[in-house]
Amino acid sequence: MIIGLTEALDYAKRHGIAIAAVNTPFFEGLLGAIAAAEKSGVPVILQHAQVHEGVMPIEDIGPAMVALARRSEAPFVLHIDHGEDIDYIVRGLDLGFNSAMIDGSRLPFEENVARTAEVVKLARSRGFGVEGELGVMTGNENGDPDQGVADEELYTDPENAREFVARTGVTALAASFGTVHGVYHREPSLKYTLIAELCAATGVPLVMHGGSGLSQEEYRLSIAQGVRKINYYTYAAKVALDAARVAAADENTILFPKVAVAARDAVEADITAFIQGLRPAI
Ligand code: 13P
Repeated sequence: MIIGLTEALDYAKRHGIAIAAVNTPFFEGLLGAIAAAEKSGVPVILQHAQVHEGVMPIEDIGPAMVALARRSEAPFVLHIDHGEDIDYIVRGLDLGFNSAMIDGSRLPFEENVARTAEVVKLARSRGFGVEGELGVMTGNENGDPDQGVADEELYTDPENAREFVARTGVTALAASFGTVHGVYHREPSLKYTLIAELCAATGVPLVMHGGSGLSQEEYRLSIAQGVRKINYYTYAAKVALDAARVAAADENTILFPKVAVAARDAVEADITAFIQGLRPAI
C-alpha cells in the first residue's frame, strides 16, 4: 500500500523511530527491500535518485516500484531522491511517485529557496510531500572514489535552516551534520547537538543522508535528537555485489538467476537489519 511522506514521518515521530529510505536502482535490490519491509511492520520509503539515471532510468524501475508497493500490504512511500530539476520530479510523479526531494543544496541560498518553494507549490496542487536540503554533504551514491570525509565548513547553520523552512514550506529537511554519501574514509563524527538545534529551529523532521556505515548507536543517538528519515543505499549495493561474487564463483552456478537470487537475499537480510536498527523504541 502507498502512504504519504507526512504520514510516514508522523508514524516515526509517534514511535520514536526513523523511517528507512532505501534507494533501489536494481531489481534485486527492490525485491530485497520490499521483502525486508514486509517483515518489519513499519513504513519504508522506496526511493530513486536522479543520479542513478545512468544505471537505471526512472521510467524503467519506477513502474515496478509503484506496482510492487501498491500490491503489498506493507506501507510504502515512493520518493524521488535528489531531484535536481522540476521536470525530473514531474516525470516521477507521472509514474506514481508521491514524494520528492528537491536538492538545491549546491545552489546559492536564495536560488535554493526559490527552486524549493516552486516544488512545494507544485506539491500543494498535486498532493505530495517535499524534502528540501540545506548544507552540503560530500560523496555521491555511485560509489565514486576520493570522497567519504565530512566537511564541517559545509554543515547546516540552524538560523539559515529556520529561514529556509519558513520560506519554502518543506515537509522535511535534509541537513549536513557529519554524514557523507558512499563509503566513509574516516570514522564519521556526527554532531548530535546540531541535529537538536536544527530540529528546534525548523520544527520539521530531519533527514539523514549517508546512512551507510554508521553504527546502531549512531542511529539511536541521531533519532533521539529528531532524525526521522535515514537514507541508505551504498552498503546494500555492496552486500549484493559480495553475495553475487560468491554465487558466481560457485561451480554449481551455471545460470545467471542464481547470482540474482543471491543478491536479492543479501539485500533483504541487510535491509532487515538496517530497519531493525532504526526502531529502538518499538
Ligand atoms: P549512503 O551512500 O550512505 O548509503 O547514503 C545514501 C543516500 O543518502 C541517498 O540519498
